[in-house]
Amino acid sequence: MTIETGSSKQRVLSGIQPSGNLTIGNYLGALSQWVKEQHRYESYFCVVDMHAITVPQDPATLREKTREVAALYIASGIDPQVATIFVQSHVPAHAELAWILNCFTPIGWLNRMTQFKDKAAKQQADTVSAGLFNYPVLMAADILLYQAHQVPVGDDQRQHLELTRDVAQRFNYLYGETFVVPEPMIRETGARVMGLDDPTKKMSKSEVDSQYHAVYLLDDLDWASKKIMRAKTDSYTDIRFTNDPERAGVNNLLEIYATITGQPHDAIEAHFAGKGYGVLKREVAEVVVEMLRPLQARYREITSDPAYLDGVLAQGAERASTVAERTLKLVKERVGFLPPYRRP
Ligand code: TRP
Repeated sequence: MTIETGSSKQRVLSGIQPSGNLTIGNYLGALSQWVKEQHRYESYFCVVDMHAITVPQDPATLREKTREVAALYIASGIDPQVATIFVQSHVPAHAELAWILNCFTPIGWLNRMTQFKDKAAKQQADTVSAGLFNYPVLMAADILLYQAHQVPVGDDQRQHLELTRDVAQRFNYLYGETFVVPEPMIRETGARVMGLDDPTKKMSKSEVDSQYHAVYLLDDLDWASKKIMRAKTDSYTDIRFTNDPERAGVNNLLEIYATITGQPHDAIEAHFAGKGYGVLKREVAEVVVEMLRPLQARYREITSDPAYLDGVLAQGAERASTVAERTLKLVKERVGFLPPYRRP
């Protein structure tokens, strides 16, 4: 049986947390794919501020970053007339469904989540919140509310998607078909941009230890270029795609180049044959800078008119709520909540 979504197009939902600064990894692994697919699917892109508070946040910074991420969605090419852009906390159905799904998620499933273990290990044990533990359930609510068929995410979110599928299937089994069981949409290139300073770690938007770790989407262009020129490489000389962990730095630069230019690997290897790492870095820096230049111009345009973004987010929350409320109402019926009485 298929679930009625009222549209001939399949749905897509994804989100990014408004913590830290968005990196070229967010753009190459997620945003650029959202842009590409926005016409093919009925798309919902949220700024997940409720996920952000699973670790401590400064309130003023969180507000500022929430607007920044939404503006970066648009600057990256998401058209708010085509896709629905909204802030997660503006649609209360996310919190409501998350609670209900928490009651259908065995603790054992959450205990297996590697991202929780990693994040918890970085904090003092007595400050790790229950929210951080339940984070994947809120993510499942985000996805299932919209009956999303496809969820474009980076490679690191595979396990959370698997959990979402398990929760949806369990609920469907217990109460009858209620949720579309979503599929991860993970692109082959660019899914995993690694840190420039340490190519064994995924490029992160909240890395604070090294200023040479990531290129941020709003970095000054010269500075972005300098960071790439300083990227860690190795003491070999040939330039080729490789799984050799020792050579992860060179492979990462090549992957960035491949994702931006869209050229096949063999053509890229031929292009760099006989050239040195200096040339490789300069050319990678060049394509990154030319990717960022128009994005930043568009970002400045968007942020010069705050009322425009207010309007996009107001409309986005309305459209998202309509869809989300429909699913939530069905879920509440299924679990046996008494419908609210209206006074005559
Ligand atoms: N957990 C995701 C990340 O850190 C962000 C996220 C929250 C998300 N809700 C989502 C992604 C729903 C896809 C769909 O990348």
